[in-house]
Amino acid sequence: TTKVGVVTCGGLCPGLNDVIRAIVLELNTHYGVRDVVGFQHGYAGLVPENGHAVVPLTPASVARINERGGTVLGSSRGAQDPSVIVDRLVELGIDILLVIGGDGSMRGAHNIGLEIAARGLQIGIVGVPKTIDNDIPHIGQSFGFSTAFAKAAESIKAARVEVEAAVGGVGIVKVMGRHAGFIACYAALANHDADFVLIPEVGFSLDGDNGLLNLLAQRVKDKGSAVIVLAEGAGQDLIPADDRTDASGNAVLGDIARFLRDEIGKDFANRSQPLTMRYFNPGYAIRSVPADASDSVYCARLAQTAVHAAMAGRTDMVVGRRRHRFVNVPIPFVTSGSHSVSPDGDLWLSVLESTAQPFAMR
Ligand code: F6P
Repeated sequence: TTKVGVVTCGGLCPGLNDVIRAIVLELNTHYGVRDVVGFQHGYAGLVPENGHAVVPLTPASVARINERGGTVLGSSRGAQDPSVIVDRLVELGIDILLVIGGDGSMRGAHNIGLEIAARGLQIGIVGVPKTIDNDIPHIGQSFGFSTAFAKAAESIKAARVEVEAAVGGVGIVKVMGRHAGFIACYAALANHDADFVLIPEVGFSLDGDNGLLNLLAQRVKDKGSAVIVLAEGAGQDLIPADDRTDASGNAVLGDIARFLRDEIGKDFANRSQPLTMRYFNPGYAIRSVPADASDSVYCARLAQTAVHAAMAGRTDMVVGRRRHRFVNVPIPFVTSGSHSVSPDGDLWLSVLESTAQPFAMR
């Protein structure tokens, strides 16, 4: 009989529990596979010395988990030694490992696949790629993205209400997305409440006639208020280098929101223009919610596709939807290269139209 393991890795994302649930139901209903187990807290759960339990996953235990955000298995970031993981898979008699995780986790999955192949074992490894950032190459849209940006759009709406009531109201809404501006763009387009959208893919300047500061001051004069939607990875080149490295010297995202708030504060003071700044950071809230109806269905279909692929003997691949079709993609395709908002693409052009007067593009 077949034994299947499931693991969720990396940051949270709406729909993780939907994927787990649909994997278990599909395996039981269509393939009669009853022996399904979950590993806790990402790959760390496959390393025995960490002491995490291996949890049986049954149709009863996963029945309504989709109604909750997060992952019932827990998660963690970080790779583990592939040879330790493969030892554990062999010890537990796992035939298939299903990994729900981001690009780092998929790189980890590929390395586990290499180790399996090197040992001549017959263990399948299939991924369901996950990120709220929506930046997976070759995949049309990542699951949970739509739920996440809808949640971010609520903060933009709240910012609009706040700044319209204030004198010289400027709202800054910082959203996640790491090196991609998809969340910022889609959330801004969802309700057309943004005046400026700043994303990592498009550089901007602060100073000069067409710099952000001048355009912002003008906009507030003309309209009474303005809302800036700020992707956390935007404007990194403007931040002093020291603020973009951690204590060990590794590159990290600098706090562009703090930087902009300071610069805007100084600039409005110089102009003697009244300013009421409101800062919103929906942060983790956008990824901890349960999947909406559409994402929920999408998650179930991705999970079914992953189960079919794995049960058909495929390995070292991930599933995704591309041009309305569910597809199998080799892991290296989704872990190399990047997928980002194209400054010439329809998405960015729509953002420019919706914000009417965006900012100077260098
Ligand atoms: O990659 C997903 C993501 O949510 C990014 O948008 C964000 O920068 C990052 O994870 C946050 O990571 P962590 O969970 O480690 O704080």
